[in-house]
Amino acid sequence: MDKLLIRGGRTLQGEVLVSGAKNAALPELCAALLTADPVTLLNVPQLQDVSTMLKLIRNMGVTAERADDGTVRIDASALNTPEAPYELVKTMRASVLALGPLLARFGEATVSLPGGCAIGSRPVDQHIKGLAAMGAEIVVEHGYMIAKLPAGWTRLKGARITTDMVTVTGTENFLMAAALAEGETVLENAAQEPEISDLAEMLIAMGAKIEGHGTSRIRIQGVDQLHGCTHRVVADRIEAGTFLCAVAATGGDVMLRHGRADHLDAVIEKLREAGATVQAVEGGIRVQSAGGATLKAQGFRTTEYPGFPTDMQAQFMTLNCIAQGTATVTETIFENRFMHVNELVRLGAKIQTDGKVAVIEGVPRLSGATVMATDLRASASLVIAGLVADGETVVDRIYHLDRGYDCMESKLRGIGADIERVKA
Ligand code: EPZ
Repeated sequence: MDKLLIRGGRTLQGEVLVSGAKNAALPELCAALLTADPVTLLNVPQLQDVSTMLKLIRNMGVTAERADDGTVRIDASALNTPEAPYELVKTMRASVLALGPLLARFGEATVSLPGGCAIGSRPVDQHIKGLAAMGAEIVVEHGYMIAKLPAGWTRLKGARITTDMVTVTGTENFLMAAALAEGETVLENAAQEPEISDLAEMLIAMGAKIEGHGTSRIRIQGVDQLHGCTHRVVADRIEAGTFLCAVAATGGDVMLRHGRADHLDAVIEKLREAGATVQAVEGGIRVQSAGGATLKAQGFRTTEYPGFPTDMQAQFMTLNCIAQGTATVTETIFENRFMHVNELVRLGAKIQTDGKVAVIEGVPRLSGATVMATDLRASASLVIAGLVADGETVVDRIYHLDRGYDCMESKLRGIGADIERVKA
């Protein structure tokens, strides 16, 4: 397994290119299954999860060509196997996003249950509830969700869907299924993440009739057919937020090209309250900081968008580890998203956890050590810790990082970090 070798203490200066959003590209690759016309996606990030999703749709008979510049051309005209097999789904939960499009286009789908992952059980019961409300008959057998339309039905029927909690990929599955359903679908407590709006914009470019995306109520009028489109994937707000926290912690002055400050209000507000300077500038976001030790620790609670994103919890916690004062962090979305805590403590952090709450007492410095990545965003928090720790930090199992960050170590090296990948 590859490792990252980091020597801490450098400040970061210069410019970083923010890639396309993982959590927009994944549903948008599935949205291409909704039409037999060619679909072109631009600015698709080079990530392990994207490679897995390409393997998944190719496995269904879809052709998908990825160019080095991030352009992916998809042709789902020959889609012949509406199946998402376990060996692919178990490595990436987002495979559940094939369920809605396959049902909408084909009237049937066999998708493996994703199984839990490091950060929690992550059930898909709400996906099943919403699609069933649209008429789908879904049984769970041998670890698979087997979905089909009732006898005599040629398409799903629009419905009013209120899920028990806000679900990002649930909202995305419903959007894609409803686009081709008969009649109107109303999502009452829809997720409002920018990736949802980006998917909706792509579906509208394909001929879907959608309004209200970006709010908690989305209305979709089903159409008979969708056509191809060319869509540019929105910039990754979590990658941008990760770099904001890195520069705030190490100190420096960096421009995040293509970063969308308007997608990061909650995080930017906390960084400003801590004492960093963060500005929306032409073409991106500029962040300046005198280093974590000069900043004031900030407590926060993770909540659904537009609140503080759970995907930024681990990275901001690292900043709190070296900032002044004590901060309380509450993780309200996932039940087990503090696995980075033990690894940060190995680096000298002072953190106490009790269930969903972590209390972080800032320390003057961290000291480099070997630590182990456990999940995607935990890995990012450990990289940031390595950038500020005294001496050398080795982050092991960075396949977790590669799932969701496009060449992170070369982007960090490009702004002055002393970091290199050690091939297994
Ligand atoms: C999406 O996951 C993101 N993944 C996650 O990003 C992100 O952390 C999460 O949304 C929350 O923002 C993608 O978009 C591919 P949810 P998702 O459904 O859709 C519970 C990353 O680091 N729930 O919004 O799976 C669930 O257990 C990843 O990039 C049910 O109980 O999250 C959780 O507690 C990690 N039943 C809460 O709802 C369901 O059927 C929110 O989950 C669905 C969800």
